[in-house]
Amino acid sequence: MIVILNFGGQYIHLIARRVREMGVYSEIVPHNISAQKLKSLKPEGIILSGGPASVYAKNAPQPNKAIFKLGIPMLGICYGHQLIARYNGAHVDPSALGRFGKIQMTVNNKSGLLKSLKGKEQVWFSNYDVVTAVPKTFKVTAKTTSCPVAVMESQSKKQYGLQFHPEVIHTPSGKKILENFVFGICHAKKSWETKYLPETLGKSVKKTVGQNNVLLAVSGGVDSTVVAALLHQALGSQLYCVHVDHGLMRKDEVSEIKRMFKHLKVKNFKVVDASNLFLQRLKNVSDPEQKRKIIGHTFIEVFEKEAKRLKRSAHISFLAQGTIYPDRIESGSTSKQAAKIKSHHNLTLPKRMQLKILEPIKDLYKDEVRALGLQLGLPKEFIYRHPFPGPGLAVRILGPVDKAKVKILQEADAIFIDELKKQKEYHKIAQAFAALFPVKAVGVMGDSRSYEYVISLRAVSTTDFMTADWYRMNGNLLSDVSNRIVNEVRGVNRVVYDITQKPPGTVEYE
Ligand code: XMP
Repeated sequence: MIVILNFGGQYIHLIARRVREMGVYSEIVPHNISAQKLKSLKPEGIILSGGPASVYAKNAPQPNKAIFKLGIPMLGICYGHQLIARYNGAHVDPSALGRFGKIQMTVNNKSGLLKSLKGKEQVWFSNYDVVTAVPKTFKVTAKTTSCPVAVMESQSKKQYGLQFHPEVIHTPSGKKILENFVFGICHAKKSWETKYLPETLGKSVKKTVGQNNVLLAVSGGVDSTVVAALLHQALGSQLYCVHVDHGLMRKDEVSEIKRMFKHLKVKNFKVVDASNLFLQRLKNVSDPEQKRKIIGHTFIEVFEKEAKRLKRSAHISFLAQGTIYPDRIESGSTSKQAAKIKSHHNLTLPKRMQLKILEPIKDLYKDEVRALGLQLGLPKEFIYRHPFPGPGLAVRILGPVDKAKVKILQEADAIFIDELKKQKEYHKIAQAFAALFPVKAVGVMGDSRSYEYVISLRAVSTTDFMTADWYRMNGNLLSDVSNRIVNEVRGVNRVVYDITQKPPGTVEYE
């Protein structure tokens, strides 16, 4: 295993992903982990990540100094590189001039970290502070015109530092550098392959659960469905699945979920239709946060009632959750509604219910979850479906929600997605959907005046959903979608296309 100490760098997940792609398990841990705890993880190597702070800042995150004495190979990236330099007594210059973007680097020693690289390499910088001279026992192995210590290494101490980012695509030899560290220096062995996941995760679940029964809330999304397929394979009829239908799903989605569970042959599967309760509580509520809160609380209330009933009749001992790796690392962040809503479910429910928590995919990234799902026999079309928010269409109907608006939006959205699939655009887009603006516009239909709602089409390109760009959609496709919506959906006479980036816009409307 390669352990990554988290100093807040924005590419931290990318580093872990790159290492896992090489077939070596990698985990992110807090920057101030104790040396003892770190040692107990038995890592072959340690990576100190980048981070936004200057090593001179008052509250700059510091690692536990004892970790430098463990004798485990260590690679510092950017801020991590400066920490290694500082710890070994070198000077870090808080320069006012930053180095950003693609920069050419001259390699003058191809031992260790830079083995098999060319004499000149393009690398990607993003920093202000810079190491100006190497500590004793270290040597400089590469530099640029503005950075005298782009790469340094001490083979005796097994400590290495890079002032640039090897994990981003703008450093073409970055993968080679990381491989040199992971295999050449740490001597890690390949042992992390997604093809073994169903078996290894299944065994571990079986060992934890034994003969007990497990309850799982399924949303219809990829994560919880993959967990259901995994648990079904490992536990068979010990698994109980409940889907709370809030009445805010996409067109025909609840029937599709039912079909999916039939296909998976999950015996104990129940849909609780709570759509009237949700709609009744959402009546006349227009504040977005209020809407989200009502949905979150009502979900917990309905699910808890069902869980209590099952706990009595089926002796449930475990509550399974589809938490994935980024959810865990980012929990505590308050900026994202998704994280908030998930943590709400995670924290409140089990404590009261006195159920043990089972999170079988908690160490996986999304692409690993998808690979696992495919191996478990879930259809490709389902695995690569665009994400859908927990509060469903309620955050895509601006203002108060009612049954009629839900129906209009379901129809319009289904047409948009249908055309994207037919015209082979769907999989080029990260997320696409329709939203309903509760304002009416005047139009002419047939020979008469119409006065109906506006539908907004949104499609975005993004890899991490933290930032997003609007998708440059083909005009003919937009025209086809607009014609179909206005002709086929009663209650809409105007269609617009959203050209807002995130930031400042978010992907969802509320
Ligand atoms: P925003 O609107 O925050 O959306 O730019 C980013 C991504 O998160 C999804 N999203 C949610 N997912 N529960 C979820 O499970 C939520 O409450 C929620 N809100 C937004 C959104 O669809 C997009 O993929």
